[in-house]
Amino acid sequence: MTSREAVPKPRSRRETIGRHTLIRGDAMNVLRRLPADSVDVVVTSPPYNIGLAYQTYRDTLSEAAYLDWMTDIGRQVARIMKPRGSFFLNIAGSSSAPWLPFELMVRLRAIFVLQNHITWIKSVAIADVTHGHFKPVNSARYVNRNHEHVFHLTLNGDVPLQRLAAGVPFTDKSNIARRNHAVDRRCRGDTWFIPYETVRTKQQKFSHPGTFPVALPTACLTLHGARPGAAVLDPFMGTGTTLLAAEEMGLSGMGIDCDTGYVATARQRLRQLIDRSDRSG
Ligand SMILES: C[S@@+](CC[C@H](N)C(=O)[O-])C[C@H]1O[C@@H](n2cnc3c(N)ncnc32)[C@H](O)[C@@H]1O
Repeated sequence: MTSREAVPKPRSRRETIGRHTLIRGDAMNVLRRLPADSVDVVVTSPPYNIGLAYQTYRDTLSEAAYLDWMTDIGRQVARIMKPRGSFFLNIAGSSSAPWLPFELMVRLRAIFVLQNHITWIKSVAIADVTHGHFKPVNSARYVNRNHEHVFHLTLNGDVPLQRLAAGVPFTDKSNIARRNHAVDRRCRGDTWFIPYETVRTKQQKFSHPGTFPVALPTACLTLHGARPGAAVLDPFMGTGTTLLAAEEMGLSGMGIDCDTGYVATARQRLRQLIDRSDRSG
């Protein structure tokens, strides 16, 4: 990496919560030290470089620096992934930087196969009824941005998926017998409607400007077919949402974030989830 602007790098601090490792530190520094071929599934949403107001990280690199940085992150992810691993990269552009996710994908094309391109729909209007939430874009020339990308990147494009486990039941049950399906389930396809919970305060969103709902990493891990014991990594874990999904599925997670406050939130969310499931037996 050559053109990356200076970002303060805190010293890494590592802790264990249940089956999971939380690391406060710089993603690149930590990734470089992880062993090759060691991770089954990476689910992450890095900064999008669209000027979000994170607690410490400044989301305003030049486009060139951002693309260099994310490409280097991609190289490290490819190195540490197992050959049959999956990398689910959640990213979006903004109205003023609409090309950025696509520019990044062109760079990552040299490293990964784009096995699936999933569109995460956060809000949709069906007829006149709106479902889900979106952040309104105040503009005469842009429409609201209601979706984000989930790029499913693999090393060779041949990772078998659990399409039915992540799938949905048939609406027309006659399809099951007519088309010889063994179970009442079909592939969900590449549009995932996963709305945010309704919240009224920033605190309910953990005072973080860019989280994803737990259902999003859950869907990725289910589609990959991650089994208990599988190693899950989120190098930009924020409030630890991917680790919550991993915990609920009996998987082992590692999460990295450079922000002490977000790591504290991740720790608290994970502890609460583990305590709740301990209490319920
Ligand atoms: C889009 S957010 C991830 C949010 C997460 N998916 C969640 O649900 O909470 C990106 C995160 O990357 C973190 N970050 C930015 N630069 C980083 C770096 N160099 N190393 C590690 N984390 C970094 C930010 O603090 C932020 O929490």
